[in-house]
Amino acid sequence: MECVNLKSGNILSIPYEDESFDFVACHGVMVHLNNYAEVEQAFKELARVTKPGGMLYTVLGEEGGIWRDCLYPALRNYYLNNEDFKDFVDHTTPQDVAEIVDFVQNEMVTREEESVDLGFLKSLLDLDLLVTLQNICQAPVRIPVSEEQHIEMYTRNGFCSPRRLRRYIKRKNIRRYFSPLHYNYDHYLSRLMYGGGCLEFIARKDDDL
Ligand SMILES: C[S@@+](CC[C@H](N)C(=O)[O-])C[C@H]1O[C@@H](n2cnc3c(N)ncnc32)[C@H](O)[C@@H]1O
Repeated sequence: MECVNLKSGNILSIPYEDESFDFVACHGVMVHLNNYAEVEQAFKELARVTKPGGMLYTVLGEEGGIWRDCLYPALRNYYLNNEDFKDFVDHTTPQDVAEIVDFVQNEMVTREEESVDLGFLKSLLDLDLLVTLQNICQAPVRIPVSEEQHIEMYTRNGFCSPRRLRRYIKRKNIRRYFSPLHYNYDHYLSRLMYGGGCLEFIARKDDDL
């Protein structure tokens, strides 16, 4: 019996028949489309392949905040204009990070004449963090999104009462220490860093259309 059937395709024209799935998930893709017209088209496609009574789960990204509005654009701009930073983002490996950490530790021991152990930094700056940096800098587009717009797309495409979700992601690298703020949008520091928080929704498609 066939359990899983994977197809690659474009979200703007999903390669499945209408009303194919009970549950449809789209995670972190729509913010990388070229413009809002494409986001609308993608949402229409996600709705089309969802069965009446089925669920559509979507994650866009953060709504505002220092990272999205200030640091991501600055990093992306620097990536496009500085060859050394581009090379660092494109090619750095965890092994390179380990070597940098060892270099810093040895310099500190030599110059400060004290024992220093920076081993913990190697696990805080891991492969997942390097890939996250690549996602921030290399993705050709990262469009701003809003909660209002997201809810509107659900209702316009025949879904009732979209429900906002909050999830706690337990990470292993330095982002672990940001996780409590990442999902607690009521804290002023969360709002400063992540604005309205990660837009993550689920809704049921009306079955009386
Ligand atoms: C941030 S990654 C998210 C990947 C995965 N969904 C996850 O959550 O780990 C964004 C993905 O969107 C894909 N993508 C961008 N434009 C797309 C399009 N028009 N159709 C399908 N996928 C697209 C990229 O190839 C990339 O894999």
